[in-house]
Amino acid sequence: MGKITNALKKAAEERIHRIEKITKIKERDQLVVRKMGKSKVDPSIITYFDPKALITEQYKMLRTNIMSLNKGRPPRIFAITSSLHSEGKTVTSINLAMVMSHAIRKPKVLLIDSDMRRGQLRRYLGVEQRVGLSEVLSGQCGLEDVMFNLDDDNLTFVLSGEVPENPAELLSSDNMSDLLKEVKTKFDYVIIDTPPMIPVTDAGIIGSQVEGVLMVIQAGRTQRGIVQRAEELIHQSQSKVIGHVLTNIEYHLPEYIYRYL
Ligand SMILES: Nc1ncnc2c1ncn2[C@@H]1O[C@H](COP(=O)(O)OP(=O)(O)OP(=O)(O)O)[C@@H](O)[C@H]1O
Ligand SMILES: [Mg+2]
Repeated sequence: MGKITNALKKAAEERIHRIEKITKIKERDQLVVRKMGKSKVDPSIITYFDPKALITEQYKMLRTNIMSLNKGRPPRIFAITSSLHSEGKTVTSINLAMVMSHAIRKPKVLLIDSDMRRGQLRRYLGVEQRVGLSEVLSGQCGLEDVMFNLDDDNLTFVLSGEVPENPAELLSSDNMSDLLKEVKTKFDYVIIDTPPMIPVTDAGIIGSQVEGVLMVIQAGRTQRGIVQRAEELIHQSQSKVIGHVLTNIEYHLPEYIYRYL
């Protein structure tokens, strides 16, 4: 019994509750999330509903940090991943894509849901469309057939599409590398939401084809060793971690730390 208690205590201590040298958020947000009109966008996409919310400010801070990486020559195509499921990758991807498309000079931003196993972008945006990346990579549709905007012309989305039999093979195909080359010429920033690193290989395959990977870590849940393992996998895929986003901090507030390229 004592052994089990000690093991549980050790596991709790191992969980990441904060990252050193982060900018501490002093205030707490009111978390008043307004749902606008007939919009079906999920309320967790706070940047869509409330441009003045403290949380939106936090995403803008993340945007500023990303845009100033590498002495102002930031990665123009990057992936967002995490070690495990449900750490906040998709919510972070959408909110970040939204604030990036509102930056000065109005960059053109593309968000691709590459999680062809259980992509959730469609659900968070509340759209009817089903076709997406899997149809493009398997040659059933062209890219133009699956891209769409909501009410902001600067922000374009590509859903994951129907679940294919072979997601990892599709992501390593020439069709995928051609698609990434093409979107890089059409957009200022391309953000790719991925499945988690540890359970499946997909994020590593994408990591090897982009300029960097942003790691989402759910505070209080993910253990250090697991994050380290995920980062080893990122390095093995010849990619690099460009920063960390810590989610699940005090009422949904993300906290950030950045490494420079
Ligand atoms: N910053 C945050 N703080 C607290 N909770 C969050 C935060 N971001 C997302 N969440 C919540 O965490 C849950 C999972 O979020 P999300 O779908 O973005 O995770 P995910 O990592 O993309 O999951 P999956 O691995 O299934 O793709 C959702 O209920 C979401 O509202
Ligand atoms: Mg997701």
